[in-house]
Amino acid sequence: MTEPLLRPMRPADLPMVMEIDRRSLPRPWSEATWREELNSPLSLYMVLAEGDVISGHIGIKRIVDEIHVMTLAVHPSRRQQGFARVLLKAALVHPVSVSAHHAYLEVRPNNLEAWALYSSLGFVQTGIRPGYYGGEDVLLLTLDLHSTQ
Ligand SMILES: CC(C)(COP(=O)(O)OP(=O)(O)OC[C@H]1O[C@@H](n2cnc3c(N)ncnc32)[C@H](O)[C@@H]1OP(=O)(O)O)[C@@H](O)C(=O)NCCC(=O)NCCS
Repeated sequence: MTEPLLRPMRPADLPMVMEIDRRSLPRPWSEATWREELNSPLSLYMVLAEGDVISGHIGIKRIVDEIHVMTLAVHPSRRQQGFARVLLKAALVHPVSVSAHHAYLEVRPNNLEAWALYSSLGFVQTGIRPGYYGGEDVLLLTLDLHSTQ
């Protein structure tokens, strides 16, 4: 297998990215949402590619002095090899993130894998967003970027 390469996401990646989302997330984005996000000047979307195959992806958005982690998923067959950690750490040191004060994201309370990843990187729970995810409550996690940059 080719060494994984971290690179910006391209529109041509969307079929594989959306397939990973279908296998990973209860509410995957539509293609229209993905295309809108890829065109946003505030956003950064990156993939880990092994040759022609996408193994995982991340998206962040810069909102004034905060970074919102929009999405993160790794193909089920490629999990537990450190790919999500690589993607998240790369996004948080990318020029898009420089000088931001905080990163935040939402996670479902029963998503123990994601919770473990985020807390190992220093994210802490700072709130609850009632009914955020299709009526389900989610936890708001925040990372102080001054402690990581
Ligand atoms: C959450 C997810 C992105 C993790 O991807 P991954 O590439 O397997 O994660 P990594 O291999 O980089 O693991 C990083 C850390 O996550 C945690 N973790 C990952 N998988 C885990 C598991 N099955 N059980 C417990 N902890 C786990 C661990 O803390 C791990 O660190 P360690 O290897 O030092 O123990 C992946 O499981 C996924 O795509 N899930 C579905 C989509 C999703 O939930 N996205 C996040 C939405 S908020």
